[in-house]
Amino acid sequence: MSAKHWSRDDRSEYTLLTLDVQGKSANVLSREVLEELDSILTDLTARPPQGLIIRSGKKSGFIFGADINEFLEVKDEKIGADVARYGQGIFNKLEALPCRTVAVIHGNCLGGGTEMVLACDYRVARDDDGTRIGLPEVRLGINPGFGGTVRLPKLVGDLAALDMMLTGRALRARAARRIGLVNDLEPERYLMTAAEAWVKSRKKFTPPLLKRLPGWAPLRPLIAAMMTRQVKKKARPEHYPAPFRIIKLWLNAANYEAEAISLGQMMVTEASRNLVRVFLLSENLKRQGKTIDHGVSHVHVIGAGVMGGDIAAWAALKGFRVSLQDQREEAIAKAIKRAYGLFRKKLKDKRQIEAAMDRLIPDISGDAVRHADLVIEAIIEDEKAKQGLFKDVEAKVGANTILATNTSSIPLEVICQSLKDPSRLVGLHFFNPVAMMQLVEIVKGEQTSETMLDRARAFTTAISRLPLDVKSSPGFLVNRILMPYLIEAMELAGEGVSLATIDQAALKFGMPMGPIQLADTVGLDICLFVAQELSEPLGITVPDALAKMVAAGKLGRKSGQGFYRYDKKGHAQKPAARSSNVSVADRLVMRILNEAKACLREGVVANIDAVDAGMVYGTGFAPFRGGPMHYAEMLGNETVSHTLYRLSEEYGKRFQPDAGWS
Ligand code: NAI
Repeated sequence: MSAKHWSRDDRSEYTLLTLDVQGKSANVLSREVLEELDSILTDLTARPPQGLIIRSGKKSGFIFGADINEFLEVKDEKIGADVARYGQGIFNKLEALPCRTVAVIHGNCLGGGTEMVLACDYRVARDDDGTRIGLPEVRLGINPGFGGTVRLPKLVGDLAALDMMLTGRALRARAARRIGLVNDLEPERYLMTAAEAWVKSRKKFTPPLLKRLPGWAPLRPLIAAMMTRQVKKKARPEHYPAPFRIIKLWLNAANYEAEAISLGQMMVTEASRNLVRVFLLSENLKRQGKTIDHGVSHVHVIGAGVMGGDIAAWAALKGFRVSLQDQREEAIAKAIKRAYGLFRKKLKDKRQIEAAMDRLIPDISGDAVRHADLVIEAIIEDEKAKQGLFKDVEAKVGANTILATNTSSIPLEVICQSLKDPSRLVGLHFFNPVAMMQLVEIVKGEQTSETMLDRARAFTTAISRLPLDVKSSPGFLVNRILMPYLIEAMELAGEGVSLATIDQAALKFGMPMGPIQLADTVGLDICLFVAQELSEPLGITVPDALAKMVAAGKLGRKSGQGFYRYDKKGHAQKPAARSSNVSVADRLVMRILNEAKACLREGVVANIDAVDAGMVYGTGFAPFRGGPMHYAEMLGNETVSHTLYRLSEEYGKRFQPDAGWS
């Protein structure tokens, strides 16, 4: 049989199977790839080799998991369960081969990839930070379905397995070795030698007895209850059923059939469909950042404040040489200190931390701008200051240098007036905190050139951020939609609805944080500034209370007092929620939906997907709802505009349904 994706090399002492999925940069287990493997394994079962080594032919890694696009074709739970049974059958065949089997792992080994290596007798992994092994299924609202829930606990122990399956976190090579998920770590050049040596030796690997013992039956309910409590702190069962299902599978000592039935049921849940949707949206944004080479090796950041400092640190973390300029030496010093904290947290290895620190160069004089391929401006939000700065920068940099501004409110058309070549200016609008927020709005001014936009997108992708194209217009996409929502929360507070009630309504809807706490966290001074900037173009009324609080120095969490009072550790002191007969959630959510619709109608972004990706990755909008526009579609345009109309009758014109609904 000739295979398209697998190549088989029968050598004297073992057979080598290499997966290199045609037409893709990364290996995924599509139906076709699995069918080929099935047929190869049937053949190997009939004529067993002395040993089998499985590896990937891709630079990008081993196997990224199942082909997620195929998830959407699963129409009902029976079909979903059959998909699982099919995958399980293949990996059972692999496990049952009478010869010694070994997987050679490098780069990403995720989902079905991990389940495949679990069915091998032995696992050798490349010893570096790029190797990541995990079962991220829970993040797509499902449980592992190709035998993972059965095999993983036996190999690494129940608690480690539950931790991996419930968080979806991928382990680095060393952590995987520590829990026994891989047996051997080798540098790239010894990987195959180590695999061959193991196949040829007649040694047998048996997982330690302790780990092979499934969780002791009398303890299981206790552990399951403890895990359930922990998961509930992060996710509500009515929003995210999958982690609770994984605990249940484990509690009942999962078997293959239970796993398959459960996968089928989980795949067709609304939550899973929507999580798959937002995952594919992020993949799409990444693809848009891969059309061209960014041509950037040196980044120069001007303004070492909250944003500039963190952008510089993040770019250095991701391997770029970065110079950081500010008028004030202490701003740079503070930013470098924060960067050190970030590197320590993310890199762990001492040499790598030092290397990242070496890449981040303090530059009070600003001389390094001459070497920059990309200049990111993040100074104070002042039109004249930004114009003056760019005029000066343009005179010093080469013709190919990208000029970018992190402005959140000044039109690019205004900033670029001081430039000889205004087509070079692009907006790179990061969100705070940079290390947590995945989205970057790529702002196109009227004159911005396509090449600059392409390169800005490519750079954004290169620093593991998601680039979203937006038009240069007030508030761009995310702030514009977020602001009416925050202001509505403040209106509710002004009407006497308790703060905790407002926040709880948003949490219950699925937001990661309530709007009152979000405003306090962002900073009330920043909220006030953005609200004032948007008040004229969007007709937003800035609540008096907000201005008063800022004037009184109540700036939110950073000042210890905002809407809430904060203790020394920065925890909000929340009074108990009081019941209210106001439709809090409706008012909050409808403001988001209405503004999102207006953005779409005005062409701030290209389509529904862009609105949804922006709100999920820029604000954390309930991912299991698939984004605001998808949610609105689910409710139906008519229902949304009817609700808005009803609210407008009661609360005034801010709820007037946008023209786009009809
Ligand atoms: P910040 O006030 O924390 O930092 C600004 C820094 O720029 C200060 O350290 C200041 O010394 C320095 N600076 C001012 N003029 C300068 C000049 N001519 N040359 C060199 N350095 C100069 O401000 P933040 O919050 O970091 O904001 C910076 C930019 O990012 C603004 O345009 C803001 O609108 C935008 N932004 C802010 C966000 C936030 O949440 N703070 C989010 C997204 C964008």
